[in-house]
Amino acid sequence: MLSAITLREVPGSNARLREALHAADLPTDDIEDGGRAFFEAVSGGDEIVGYAGLERCSGDYLLRSVVVLPAHRGYGLGRAIVEETLQGVGGDVFLATTSAAPFFSTIGFFEVQRAEVPAAVLATRQLSSICPSSATIMKLNRPPT
Ligand SMILES: CC(C)(COP(=O)(O)OP(=O)(O)OC[C@H]1O[C@@H](n2cnc3c(N)ncnc32)[C@H](O)[C@@H]1OP(=O)(O)O)[C@@H](O)C(=O)NCCC(=O)NCCS
Repeated sequence: MLSAITLREVPGSNARLREALHAADLPTDDIEDGGRAFFEAVSGGDEIVGYAGLERCSGDYLLRSVVVLPAHRGYGLGRAIVEETLQGVGGDVFLATTSAAPFFSTIGFFEVQRAEVPAAVLATRQLSSICPSSATIMKLNRPPT
């Protein structure tokens, strides 16, 4: 069942954001750098259920820091958080993941080779130094407008 969630922007210095990313083995080294926006996802009952972040790369975006707190996984919240985070975002959306490619495929992302990724996206700290080179890079397949 898909629960309703609301996103609230939080600074990269937010302690609970850092803790959730750390617990999920996601990068935290650069979350306080500029050019990133992070959101906490709040369920109908005003409980924080997860986080997501967006990093601007010229005209494109890197979706990052997607995490659903362990007790809330498997209820459609991950999908809801990604869809809400990407609402109204123009430009192409990329991400790098070492373990969640099957999850992102269900939302419309597909794997791309590094050679197909714009330089500004490759230059993000996530792709250039933090994520292992074995990480899968994915791009959102948007329906034609
Ligand atoms: C990956 C993660 C965000 C998924 O959150 P979730 O709330 O459990 O996912 P959802 O319930 O919204 O799942 C949406 C769809 O993806 C599928 N899915 C979820 N996790 C999956 C996985 N690990 N492998 C394959 N499919 C998966 C679900 O079955 C569902 O498919 P359906 O719509 O056909 O039923 C969550 O497991 C998590 O926080 N993991 C740790 C952090 C992480 O790896 N983040 C991604 C890197 S940026």
